[in-house]
Amino acid sequence: MKKLAAGNWKMNGSVATLTEVATLLKIQSTPICCEMLLCPPATLLSQMAAMAVGTALKIGGQNCHTKGSGAHTGDISATMLQDAGATYVIVGHSERRAEHGETDTLVRAKAIAAQSAGLVPIVCIGETGPERDAGATLDVIGTQLHGSIPDGATAATLVVAYEPVWAIGTDHTPTVEQIAEVHAFIRTRLTARLGTEAADVRILYGGSVKPSNATKIFAIPHVNGALVGGASLKAADFAAIVTALSAA
Ligand code: PGA
Repeated sequence: MKKLAAGNWKMNGSVATLTEVATLLKIQSTPICCEMLLCPPATLLSQMAAMAVGTALKIGGQNCHTKGSGAHTGDISATMLQDAGATYVIVGHSERRAEHGETDTLVRAKAIAAQSAGLVPIVCIGETGPERDAGATLDVIGTQLHGSIPDGATAATLVVAYEPVWAIGTDHTPTVEQIAEVHAFIRTRLTARLGTEAADVRILYGGSVKPSNATKIFAIPHVNGALVGGASLKAADFAAIVTALSAA
């Protein structure tokens, strides 16, 4: 299994900030043992993809429509992301679930659209703070996982990201035990659903991953990489996280 360090720029970045990508490529110029991915806003995707040609960097989208084309003003299809140079797409990020009312059913349809376009969907799931406080974490994760991932997915066509909503952008990471419990639970559920193929499906952790906590997080069983928000905007920080994963 090749682990995955994925950066999610969210609604950040401009042509000027592409210098961070150039810096990242300079720092990470020697071969690494993991995959390195950046998911910029759609406005920067083709330019970033052009910079990534011939390097270890892969490019992904942050969202896609369920359809390939048509009258859907303001939306972007998985086919378009693929055409612009993407090989991955994040689907079902908690910010889209919260701000755009995305349901598990919709997320699953987006994941299927991504797979049909030849992209690997990174399907995000995660409990809110009140859900964790109520002791409902594994119920929530089980339900989201069941409803959000496509049938027949393989290690080559699916990545799952566990991102506790209360840990995103808060500097408040779960304990090692909390991450370990959820990742083991996800692996068990994936195995029940996908069989032996599940052993190699990458399960990323996301939520306030930084250079200072990456090594500790990457040592947790069934953590096969990270989905990184804020720290992926700075080349030096993201490069340090990639290095930590490569060494894990
Ligand atoms: P964060 O975001 O690293 O800034 O907490 C993670 C994410 O939302 O993917």
